[in-house]
Amino acid sequence: MSKPGGTEKRDSFASSLGILLAMTGSAVGLGNLWRFPYLVGENGGAAFIIFYLVCVVFLCMPIMMCEFILGRRSQANAFGAYKKLAPGTAWKHAGLLSVLAAAFILSFYSVVGGWSIKYLVMACGLKFTTAGGIQPEPMFNEFVTSNWLPIFYTLAFLACTGIIIIAGVKNGIEKFTKTLMPVLFIMMVVLAVRSMTLPGASEGVRYLFKPDFSKFTASSAMAALGQAFFSLSLGCGTILTYASYVSHKENIMKCSAETTLLDTLFALIAGCAIMPAVFAYGISPGQGPGLVFVTLPAIFAELPAGGIVAIVFFLSLFLAALTSAISLLEVVIAFLIEECKLRRPVAVAVSMSVFVVLAVLCSLSQGALSHVKIFSLNIFDLFDYVSANVLMTFGALFATLFVGHRLSRADIEDELTSSGRYRLPRPLAGFIYFVIRWAAPVVIIALLVAGLIA
Ligand code: PHE
Repeated sequence: MSKPGGTEKRDSFASSLGILLAMTGSAVGLGNLWRFPYLVGENGGAAFIIFYLVCVVFLCMPIMMCEFILGRRSQANAFGAYKKLAPGTAWKHAGLLSVLAAAFILSFYSVVGGWSIKYLVMACGLKFTTAGGIQPEPMFNEFVTSNWLPIFYTLAFLACTGIIIIAGVKNGIEKFTKTLMPVLFIMMVVLAVRSMTLPGASEGVRYLFKPDFSKFTASSAMAALGQAFFSLSLGCGTILTYASYVSHKENIMKCSAETTLLDTLFALIAGCAIMPAVFAYGISPGQGPGLVFVTLPAIFAELPAGGIVAIVFFLSLFLAALTSAISLLEVVIAFLIEECKLRRPVAVAVSMSVFVVLAVLCSLSQGALSHVKIFSLNIFDLFDYVSANVLMTFGALFATLFVGHRLSRADIEDELTSSGRYRLPRPLAGFIYFVIRWAAPVVIIALLVAGLIA
């Protein structure tokens, strides 16, 4: 039997591949399959993608390294990491901010995760075929505003998340993501091939890869940067918490680079799975958030073998959301186990009782509580806004400021090279150090100010 939390031996990942796939599982989620394609559609296609790639490589990858450094060096949860590395200072509150960000994100993320289960169930009932005879738009609106049904699916999604997390890091998170991520990858490639071989699909491919800078505005640039943060799970302690389960022998530079690469690859494949089909059916690409739940079902109904394609798509969406949700929950669980000395199952039960309430409120904000507005946003949008635009951004800012200005360059290099085990060329070390210390904080502050003005 495990001893009470806190004195329990810390769980850890068992293999390098397990670490990479867990990190990628966290990064690849609704952000890739749902948000990225519609943002590309709204912001001028390839121009958005090019700017996104620049942000990811030159800015986000070094920020991810900061979280890796914080987690691996401290071997503690987001709050504990700052507490351990800067004892007796106010830095620990930065960690608390990350835990809060994770909690807020999980609350609204579970609602959309629940929608993905509902759509998967409908796809399995062959509803997205000509015979299914549904009208996607009224059906979606009726479903999300119907109160009980979306709550039921939201809770089902939360339950799946909790069950995996109860099993722990090695036996829950690692086992689950190691099995599922390859399956998810194969399914996404199959979808992309199906979409790109439709008659008339080439226009969609051109849209994705031929830049049109006339539609790319300053707000597109902000959207790309915000999306890069969200997609790479930065600023809310998930990478930090997972990295705290990584041994000192692992190459964290390589792991950050590979996670970033795989997440971007998934986003591009998702774009290739969606945009060519959208163009092949003569639909405008700028459909906004309804793209996945309204536009795609309409396309599936017309597509040859669309019933099966719909099952594969919504299964992918559900699995991608689930592997991200477990990483969000683990931030809170690690905090409760280590700071409040709870045992893992108790920590899961306690946090779940809070998430049930928050997620139900988010779900109801589409229906019965849609009139409740705070700063003219409904609860769902408020959680989304506060976490993605405020808490995550501050979380990332503090992580870079801490690593860049509180830790020494020698500490950073020691961590990045795993105490000299791996090579870090001088110019690369200089570049990473510059980004962490100056470029990243400046860009993040600019993002915060721009967000406040907008
Ligand atoms: N990166 C996830 C996605 O793309 C979302 C997420 C954000 C997950 C923050 C964990 C932490 O959907």
